[in-house]
Amino acid sequence: MADLMTEWAARVAETELSAALPRRWAHTQGVTERATGIRQLLGEDADLLTAAATLHDIGYAPRLAVTGFHPLDGARFLRDEHGADERLVRLVANHSFALLEAEERGLREELASEFPLLEEPLLVDALVYCDMTTTPDGGRTSAQGRIAEIVGRYGTDSVVSRFIRRAAPQIFSSVQRIEAALAAQPR
Ligand SMILES: [Fe+2]
Repeated sequence: MADLMTEWAARVAETELSAALPRRWAHTQGVTERATGIRQLLGEDADLLTAAATLHDIGYAPRLAVTGFHPLDGARFLRDEHGADERLVRLVANHSFALLEAEERGLREELASEFPLLEEPLLVDALVYCDMTTTPDGGRTSAQGRIAEIVGRYGTDSVVSRFIRRAAPQIFSSVQRIEAALAAQPR
């Protein structure tokens, strides 16, 4: 059952992103690879993390963009069109500190009431780690490199840059917690 979830996620993401947004699809595949690479940290939830990694940016698909805030659009699509698992939907809705960006966009209440943050810090950190150590083309990077790239791409005064600068300390902490957990794993 569980690995059906990752196959389903890959099919849905490919359908929505590969033709419409090839670069976002390349990023998605990289984030999925990172998730596969840290499966051993997640135990029973490894497939849930992988599926969330594959679907985290689905809301960028032009067909799905309703509010223009991709974590919310993506989560609503997964819930309403696919009846997706609730934890998966809440991970996608809140990925990489989306609540802070929702605040910048006046959508905080809407996001928090519809999709409360999952109270499972390991899963939440792990998804931040996967997203924030992957470049837009799917390669590996550091969280510092990733944030600098985002600020450069969106421009210093944009909503996204304001959000990412506010989120940066928490992003670094999440990534450090996962790196420490990986370092503590027996090889
Ligand atoms: Fe992403």
